[in-house]
Amino acid sequence: MAIISSKKQPQDPNGQPKKQSQESVKASLDQELLQPEAAIDEQGKQEESIRPQRFADYIGQKDLKDVLDIAIKAAKSRGEVLDHLLLYGPPGLGKTTMAMILASEMGVNYKITSAPALERPRDIVGLLVNLKPGDILFVDEIHRLSRMTEEILYPAMEDYRLDITIGKGSSARIRSLPLAKFTLVGATTRVGALTSPLRDRFGLVQKLRFYEVDELSKIVLRTAQLLQTPITEDGATEIARRSRGTPRIANRLLKRVRDYAEVKTSGEIDESVAAEALQLFQVDPCGLDWTDRKMLSVIIEQFNGGPVGLETIAAATGEDTQTIEEVYEPYLMQIGYLSRTPRGRTATTAAYKHLGFKPPNGQMSLL
Ligand SMILES: Nc1ncnc2c1ncn2[C@@H]1O[C@H](COP(=O)(O)OP(=O)(O)OP(=O)(O)O)[C@@H](O)[C@H]1O
Ligand SMILES: [Mg+2]
Repeated sequence: MAIISSKKQPQDPNGQPKKQSQESVKASLDQELLQPEAAIDEQGKQEESIRPQRFADYIGQKDLKDVLDIAIKAAKSRGEVLDHLLLYGPPGLGKTTMAMILASEMGVNYKITSAPALERPRDIVGLLVNLKPGDILFVDEIHRLSRMTEEILYPAMEDYRLDITIGKGSSARIRSLPLAKFTLVGATTRVGALTSPLRDRFGLVQKLRFYEVDELSKIVLRTAQLLQTPITEDGATEIARRSRGTPRIANRLLKRVRDYAEVKTSGEIDESVAAEALQLFQVDPCGLDWTDRKMLSVIIEQFNGGPVGLETIAAATGEDTQTIEEVYEPYLMQIGYLSRTPRGRTATTAAYKHLGFKPPNGQMSLL
């Protein structure tokens, strides 16, 4: 999925991007449009109405769906509960959505919580004792569980048992309470931050990957239909291309383009309306944001294309190394703009072209 375009990049007469505009780009670029995390107004009713409810509506993630489809069918035919499942991947790719779909496909109830809400032992105990057989307990940001909560979860996950310590000191005793057989679905953007005892207790560990443009186009078309917004396939593709491989961003951009189309045109979103609107909102043709561009331009301008160490990139962009590794790099690698080598990160020819730089001689032959 290499989408190469530099037509909206400000250039000086030599064809080089205007360097002094970098900081102003950060200020003016509508950063929030391209953030993969959910905004406050994206957690309400309207958001729920566009969230896929069944497997058939969940577009893309074929590998994940294949694995889960088998797991569901096997569990159902044996009359057992689904194995504990850990979903990991960047924000906005459909982890929560998949947990809800699992519950509806299994015909069970689900409870949603998040690790920061489980600070005290009684928080998790309260949830566990109220679960009915087969229920799904969804724990978001599971890498942030407190130690105590995690230790309560170990026997709960393994043997459906709650171990409670009664009394203190030498007279302390452990009492065990049986729990209903349940499925824990954990979600995290940082699988590496999970402790290994916790990770080992998940029977299924699945990664969500970024979506391809054609998959995102289908998501945009589906959402547009639910929002009763007329859109052409080309219009959907134009939005999809700028969505950073992320359904949440695709849906957000669609809503902004819809506003623009309603005010400025007859209302239908076609390719040129989508492109005009997104240009107005300063969304890069490939969905790159300020940090992506800064990373690439540092590698190109200051280090001749790389390789550059992660720490250096982090210092230049003001992001921490973890965010660079987990949020920015995966997308840049997916679209073929960045490669990781043992000696550091390098910018590809496609990145040079997208940012309006002339690739170094050695790379010309690749063009
Ligand atoms: N496969 C999909 N098909 C269609 N729409 C999707 C798909 N995945 C996600 N979406 C849409 O994207 C939005 C974000 O998805 P979701 O909330 O499941 O992401 P998440 O991975 O849980 O993100 P976070 O890490 O921020 O919790 C959903 O509201 C849903 O409408
Ligand atoms: Mg979520």
